[in-house]
Amino acid sequence: MKKLSTVFVLILLLKITTVMAQDTKAKILVLIHSDNGGTYELAKEIASGIESNKNVAAVIKQVKGSSNPKLANIPVATVDELPSYDGIAFGSPVYFGNISTGMSEFLSKTVNLWTNHALEGMPATVFMSAGSGAGKELALQAFWNSLTVHGMVLISNGIRGTDNINKAIPQGNTVLGITSMASLKDVERPTKDERGLAELQGRNFARTALALKGTFSKKQTSVTISEKSQDFDDLLKQKNIILPQVPQPAGNYKPFVRSGNLVFINQVALKEGKILNPGKLGVDVNEQQVKEAAKATMLNVIAVLKEAVGGDLNKVKQCVQLTGIFNTKDDYTKHADLMNVASDLTVEVFGEKGKHARATLGASSIPVNSSVEIQAVFEVE
Ligand SMILES: Cc1cc2nc3c(=O)[nH]c(=O)nc-3n(C[C@H](O)[C@H](O)[C@H](O)COP(=O)(O)O)c2cc1C
Repeated sequence: MKKLSTVFVLILLLKITTVMAQDTKAKILVLIHSDNGGTYELAKEIASGIESNKNVAAVIKQVKGSSNPKLANIPVATVDELPSYDGIAFGSPVYFGNISTGMSEFLSKTVNLWTNHALEGMPATVFMSAGSGAGKELALQAFWNSLTVHGMVLISNGIRGTDNINKAIPQGNTVLGITSMASLKDVERPTKDERGLAELQGRNFARTALALKGTFSKKQTSVTISEKSQDFDDLLKQKNIILPQVPQPAGNYKPFVRSGNLVFINQVALKEGKILNPGKLGVDVNEQQVKEAAKATMLNVIAVLKEAVGGDLNKVKQCVQLTGIFNTKDDYTKHADLMNVASDLTVEVFGEKGKHARATLGASSIPVNSSVEIQAVFEVE
């Protein structure tokens, strides 16, 4: 009995110590927007620098979903989670000497946090991926402008680490934060030194965040719909549904048009730059192949839809109508069976909101010799 109670006390002590250890560990968000992955490359170095401090954990998230395969698996952050961290490292591409539109849109949703003083006193640091580097300091400064209004404590780089960099090539070091000049292809970008300075920035930031931990209040703000934006990414992952890159238009039109709350999308069976199972049913391809093509086409539709709602599929209110057009012979009648693949996928992803009105028809030919074209109308927030 005595032995049993000693074991129990030991377990209890272990639990308490674990909880205390978790509580003393600082958690830093590395929050990025990236189009081509340059900012993400720097983010990984920043995160690795942060995590070199065993008392600090880093998590990389992005401000909106991306169809770029390099970025598609990075979780999307919500505005409401920002106050829960001990520090935030912000990264974005340089857009015309400024922060990127994606980052700017995300920050514009933080008004509620601002008026609630939710980020006041929290340490922040910034880094950016540039092209030629034109206006990079202006852009970093612009980042600081927004974060200063939030009352965040901005952590600069100064000239830390620059003594040791290769000065024979252009480097993205600045006193405000690290940048990389992605379009200067003299060497691989980010350069070894840009990566090194990013890592150093992360290390220094972690130290400051740890020191400031607990000195500012982590205000809870109401959790809004943005919290749910993670849900769809998880759902797609669980169901092993991988959205393709958004197909680019082949002419003078757009992948989607939004009119009021309706989004209009038309896609063919383009997969990895080629038409999947092209041709006419019963001549070049069989029903199974057309069904595969219909699935690829519907995935394209959903990828475009995701872009139309700024990466947050929670904003989809209803799939209103799907029209499936199939390249068939004159006497073919089982179009509905072929289209069921697309309908089932839509319901699998969106549940009740995926249930739609539907039309199917045959055509004697379809552009680019696709065996199927799908036209879709969605209602969104
Ligand atoms: C709209 C737009 C404006 C840009 N303006 C600048 C600029 O002022 N200076 C610069 O060096 N690069 C500029 N760039 C290039 C991007 O900053 C560069 O491609 C960056 O590496 C992209 O980062 P990412 O790989 O994370 O998407 C601009 C790019 C875009 C799309």
